Amino acid sequence: MSYKIETKCVQGGYTPESGQPRQIPIIQSTTFKYATSEAMGKLFDLEASGYFYSRLQNPTCDTVAAKICEMEGGTAAMLTSSGQAASFYAVFNIAGCGDHVVASSALYGGTYNLFAVTMKRMGINFTFVSPDCTEDELNAAFTPETKAVFGETIANPALTVLDIEKFANAAHAHGVPLIIDNTFATPVNCRPFEWGADIVTHSTTKYMDGHGAAVGGCIVDSGKFDWTKYPEKFPGLCTPDESYHGVTYTERFGLAGAYITKATAQLMRDLGSVQSPQDAFLLNLGLESLHVRIKRHCENALAVATYLKNDDRIAWVKYPSLEGDKDFELANKYLPNGSCGVVSFGIKGGREAAEVFMKNLKLAAIETHVADARTCCLHPANATHRQMNDEELAAAGVAPDLVRFSCGIENADDLIADISQALDKI
Ligand SMILES: Cc1ncc(COP(=O)(O)O)c(C=O)c1O
Repeated sequence: MSYKIETKCVQGGYTPESGQPRQIPIIQSTTFKYATSEAMGKLFDLEASGYFYSRLQNPTCDTVAAKICEMEGGTAAMLTSSGQAASFYAVFNIAGCGDHVVASSALYGGTYNLFAVTMKRMGINFTFVSPDCTEDELNAAFTPETKAVFGETIANPALTVLDIEKFANAAHAHGVPLIIDNTFATPVNCRPFEWGADIVTHSTTKYMDGHGAAVGGCIVDSGKFDWTKYPEKFPGLCTPDESYHGVTYTERFGLAGAYITKATAQLMRDLGSVQSPQDAFLLNLGLESLHVRIKRHCENALAVATYLKNDDRIAWVKYPSLEGDKDFELANKYLPNGSCGVVSFGIKGGREAAEVFMKNLKLAAIETHVADARTCCLHPANATHRQMNDEELAAAGVAPDLVRFSCGIENADDLIADISQALDKI
């Protein structure tokens, strides 16, 4: 039976048998006992499924990954220690030294740095394209070494909406998968696989956890990308893995399981960016109410964005679900039930005015975090980007007056009153 997203949030991934715990058990164990070496050997040969060491897999983490997998409509999923680890693994699982990736330029700053600096040092080259590029411009970014395309459904902090179909079509025309970071939209508001994406990543630290309690990430595979059509491009999936007893992942696990099994058997084994069972348990609590919270985040953000648009102390507002926004059409197509809880805006008076505004907020807390039940706010020019002057900020795509306001699930009137009284102090 196929359930709707709300039911998957609450009950997906875990169906206890009679007499079993109603809540998912936290299996706080690094290791698992076997009666014979032979039984354990079968696990190492990937001939039997089961657990042997929590650096690779843990039952609690797998239960929560299975829920997110159901929510996204995928065939396999894994949890990671952070969103950064998810982005890294998702790309590194299919691209290595000498390879190339096309990425949208509208990305979370940490992801941009991971790609443009750290992974470049590993020999993987990235070409960044504007999310608004034409199909010709997008196609021109590919090289014979391109192994993937990467973008964010709703970019943090630019709040642009990716035309997922445009990017998926270009990726598939060049025989590579589209990887989408779906953190800000969550599968409640958008399921990128329904628009042609092949792999989805998440920083579960954001709305999925939603309570500022646990850092984490997730990768989900749609099982739809046919690696075996391009064995020369994806030898790691289509030829024997000598580091894992000569297994060929696509042969043994099919399209449904090859990508995630390889990421678990190779990358988790060697790099070990696991989520802890305790954190997976907390993440699951967050997921159970995700659909209820996301609706409220979006209602509050639309109310705040509408208020800001009509306040003449505000220079500009960016919120994709706000009528007149440059991404409004794309938001209507891909995010018809709401986009996210984050609104960006500029205050007349620039950097100095923004500083006074921030100082006077009472309810909204100054944090680098976003997508939390409690409203939080950041003025990058005076916090994360404070070492940059106005020209450097412009080059980085961050306006000096930009305030990122992450609406929580409080009462919208209280959020607007807080903004209004802080603007009065300027
Ligand atoms: C869209 C997006 N992707 C990935 C990340 C990285 O996630 P984490 O902080 O869990 O490593 C973030 C963090 O803010 C993000 O906003």
